[in-house]
Formats: sequence, structure tokens, C-alpha cells
Amino acid sequence: MSLDALYQEIILEHYKNPRNFGKLDESRAKAHYENPSCGDQIDLQILINDDNVVEDIRFQGRGCAISQASASLMTEAVKGKRLDEVEKIIESFTSLMTGEGEITVELGDLEALEGVKKFPVRVKCAMLSWTALKSLLEREKKS
Ligand code: FES
Repeated sequence: MSLDALYQEIILEHYKNPRNFGKLDESRAKAHYENPSCGDQIDLQILINDDNVVEDIRFQGRGCAISQASASLMTEAVKGKRLDEVEKIIESFTSLMTGEGEITVELGDLEALEGVKKFPVRVKCAMLSWTALKSLLEREKKS
């Protein structure tokens, strides 16, 4: 199987069987993001414990395969990680998608989305959940 085919398979598998799909307790802060060009959307909630580790993370949404697979892969990548590690994952994934900046951590299955960077419109799809994550972490830091 070629690498492209393998990557396609990872994306489709996460789209069909999204990980960490659903919601946490209603009282948890929620980030709601929408891609204005298509109306696809995502809701994201996160639970950070006293050791600054992502104890749980959930998303709900509807959208194209890339946006939903990216959200699912993102939740797997950050769950159980410390916040400083999460920030490195966010930076590295953003670099993977834009070709700018440095990739400083292993991205594992997230690399399946690398091909998306050839299609600037689809980069927005892949970044939807990551934008939600960044804003949620900013809010958590301030509270
Ligand atoms: Fe809407 Fe991808 S087409 S997020």
C-alpha cells in the first residue's frame, strides 16, 4: 500500500469512527467554531487536571471528512499530554499544514493530513478544531 493510500485510510477511518466524540459535563467551557466558507462547525470541550494534563477532551460537529478526521486525530494526540506538550503539538501541526515554522515533536498519525497543505482551502478544514483548541486553552489560562 502506498503512503498516500495509507494516509487516506487513516483519514477515512477517523471520519467514520471519530475518537472522543461527544461532550463533557455542560458546565465545562466550550469553544464553538465555524468555517464561514462552508458552514461546517465544531464544538470542543476540555478537562485539564491540577497537574496541567489534558485529562479529557471531546468534540462534536459536522463537516467534511478532513475537518472531522483532524478533530478526532487531534483529540487522540493531546489527551493525556501536559499543556506545554500540547502547545508544541499545536505549533508542530500548524507547521505541517502551512510549511512554515518548525516541527519539534513526533506527530504520528497526524502526518496523514500533510497532503492537505497542497490545497489551501482544505487547510482551513484541517485547522478548524485546532483553532478551537487554541482558543479554549487561552480561555483556560485566563480563568
Ligand atoms: Fe467545511 Fe471542510 S468543507 S470544514
